[in-house]
Amino acid sequence: MATVQTDQVTLTVNGQSVTVPKGTLILDAAKKIGIDIPIFCSHPKMAPVAVCRMCLVEVEKMPKLQPACAVYVADGMVVKTTTEQVNKYQKGVLEFLLINHPLDCPICDKGGECPLQDQTYQYGPGASRYQFDKAHFDKAVPLSDKILLDRERCILCWRCTRFSEEISGERELALIQRGVHTIIGTFNDEPAQSAYQGNWTEICPVGALTSRQYRFISRPWDLDRTPSICPGCSMGCNIQIDARNNKIGRFQSRENLAVDDSWLCDYGRYSFPNFQRQSLERPRVRRDGRLEEVSYEEAIAFTVDGLKRAGGQAAGWASPADTNEELVLFRRLFREVLRSPHLDHRSAIVPDAEPDDMSLAIADIERLDHAVLLGGQEVIDAAPVLHLRLFKAQRKGLNVLKVGGGDAKKALDGIPADARAVGILATEANKTAAVDLQSKLQRKVKGSVRRLLVTTGPNGRGAKDLGILPHLGPGYTSLNGQAGKARTEWPGAGLRALYVHESSPLHGFTPSDAESMWLPTLPLIVFHRFKPSPLDEMAHVIFPGHAFTEKDGTVTNMEGRVQRISRGLDADWVLEDWRVFQEIANGLGAGWGYDSVAEITADLVRLLPPYAAFTTGERVLWGEPA
Ligand code: SF4
Ligand code: SF4
Ligand code: FES
Repeated sequence: MATVQTDQVTLTVNGQSVTVPKGTLILDAAKKIGIDIPIFCSHPKMAPVAVCRMCLVEVEKMPKLQPACAVYVADGMVVKTTTEQVNKYQKGVLEFLLINHPLDCPICDKGGECPLQDQTYQYGPGASRYQFDKAHFDKAVPLSDKILLDRERCILCWRCTRFSEEISGERELALIQRGVHTIIGTFNDEPAQSAYQGNWTEICPVGALTSRQYRFISRPWDLDRTPSICPGCSMGCNIQIDARNNKIGRFQSRENLAVDDSWLCDYGRYSFPNFQRQSLERPRVRRDGRLEEVSYEEAIAFTVDGLKRAGGQAAGWASPADTNEELVLFRRLFREVLRSPHLDHRSAIVPDAEPDDMSLAIADIERLDHAVLLGGQEVIDAAPVLHLRLFKAQRKGLNVLKVGGGDAKKALDGIPADARAVGILATEANKTAAVDLQSKLQRKVKGSVRRLLVTTGPNGRGAKDLGILPHLGPGYTSLNGQAGKARTEWPGAGLRALYVHESSPLHGFTPSDAESMWLPTLPLIVFHRFKPSPLDEMAHVIFPGHAFTEKDGTVTNMEGRVQRISRGLDADWVLEDWRVFQEIANGLGAGWGYDSVAEITADLVRLLPPYAAFTTGERVLWGEPA
């Protein structure tokens, strides 16, 4: 016998029947059957406020037009979105909004991707009947060092103020004054401090909120858009690289509900100038104390020669911003070809990584009833978009306990025994305390206790998974007595060569004091990097490398999700980094024959079968989470 689904309701929109769960807005029910209702103030991540009136529709048996963004469906409801009355109101709303809106479209950053512009074309009046002077408001008002507000363009949709209240919880933006004088501003005109301001510019449906970095940089239709991943941290927020004439104009968000929930932090969003290439660089080798430009062949031969002389006494440091594909070859170069175990991606000694460090998925934070931030604000600073996920969960009832790295006892006392689902978030530096707290909580509470460690760099997790460590192999396997030295032990370990590979200036090789003394004593330093750095002065070989934004491959975020990065900028004169590794390995006698990144990815999956998860966007899981 068929069961009746009482939580579903059926209605018609423009004569088409649609069945949706109870509690669905008319706007979303219409969208489900491909009917677009124009909106300004409505936003899928925020509670409806129905202030712009752009989405008014006819609902049978209701005396007045209803805002589709704020009225929930009911069984048998009859909705009409294209009647004469609806069209008249849409025209009226737009005419009203445009009365004081400046004719800035030709010079507005939003022009070409502006809902007000688009909807005026589609639903608005062809001409203005307004005969009087427009009211003028302040333009280019600095809200912070990142954002400017054009008050004439603002249509008072409240999206930015609601973001500040409902999404980030910082309450920095507010509606000030009343009636026609209403403006958006910060409290007391103080500069905004939020770490998430770039999101305001993305959700603003007009060009009122603009990023200083992107002002007047490009028209949207002139941008080349490339889907990729933010290079800022191990969160793995999805981005779009928007570039014009091979120059990055901006990073925009690209929604991945499991990771970023469609938001970016300002650190990541505004980090793009670090990835802009400044010069046409060629490989160089040091001869008679001076660096000379040479061909790739010469630089590779020079490197092969030096590495041969170093024998197994060569160390390799690969950045936690390298792709998994680069790391696969880098590890093979050291472990298989050079027979050297001295491999690392870390800058400091941190407790050993293990698969259980990611037993809590980012999106599952919303399903916890208690979360401990072990290390407090430093966890958020290490992956700022985590705060937005935590705040979203807090609004649904999550209790968040922020304690110092050494205050695990406070967390243990603060979590009640009847907790249903507990999460511990910590940086790698506090891992030992996190594991200890987890095991104590597992004995105390009746529900589950999981942890998520914030790794370093956009691919610190991949580097651990792939064994870019002196003491663990791919998949956290033991090296059976073949362990090498960690980076911090390299000075004084009798090494004769160092190969540093660095794809991102945000996660580069910064020598410690001990290393600064040690580096000049090495017979061979190979520096394979994107941007010039002080290490150039000590290098014997410099290979220009591709930046994070110039290459294809995959990276693994803190929770083990393997995501693709793509080449958003061209630097064709730079030999792909993995090809340099291959040429060096083959010069040392290996017979590698990779022709593409895809072939290395396939090898990676053969090496680590859990990495097959990347084809579906799932997380790499190494076993059942605890
Ligand atoms: S600044 Fe933009 S987002 Fe904020 S209220 Fe005005 S139009 Fe809306
Ligand atoms: S949280 Fe990390 S990955 Fe996400 S936008 Fe910020 S820096 Fe980028
Ligand atoms: S979108 Fe519905 S009232 Fe603004």
